[in-house]
Amino acid sequence: MSEHETHSETLGEPTRRDFLYLTTGMAGAVGAAAVAWPFIDQMRPDASTLALASIEVNVGAVEPGMSLTVKWRGKPVFIRNRTPKEVEEANAVALGDLKDPVARNANLPANAEATAVDRSAGEGKENWIVMIGSCTHLGCVPLGQAGDFGGWFCPCHGSHYDTAGRIRKGPAPQNLAIPTFAFTSDTVIQIG
Ligand code: FES
Repeated sequence: MSEHETHSETLGEPTRRDFLYLTTGMAGAVGAAAVAWPFIDQMRPDASTLALASIEVNVGAVEPGMSLTVKWRGKPVFIRNRTPKEVEEANAVALGDLKDPVARNANLPANAEATAVDRSAGEGKENWIVMIGSCTHLGCVPLGQAGDFGGWFCPCHGSHYDTAGRIRKGPAPQNLAIPTFAFTSDTVIQIG
């Protein structure tokens, strides 16, 4: 190191190395400002983002007794083709025995009752049930075909749902929510 360079550092003047850092720093700042706008612009929903608001699920291969879990708007959605026994068990429950007598079905009026058919995909499709897989207590994902009622069981704090996804025992206050959905053909369900 030459005597001159040592001298300028001692005086606190920027050295050549500092100058290079400063220049790089400025270039970085300009670069960041230049990319900020396109990034913000991308945050507006465009057609492809809006399309994600609904999904189509082919359930052609889902036989009675089989389930499918799909992701919709960041949440799990349970789709189950219930067995005749499961449907019968749901039918056999008196409304008076339900902890939450409301259907919680986004396809029906808010005050619809939690009858077996109103918890299902409707008349003629009673075997199908579509529900948000999020426990209405604190949001854990319940396990299928488990618990005291043979439906779903949330192990987090012990909530038992029946074969129609209705809360029967435990701390959860409501039946599992049913999202907006429709069969668009015999084998395709559109959710959302
Ligand atoms: S989150 Fe399901 S019982 Fe608490």
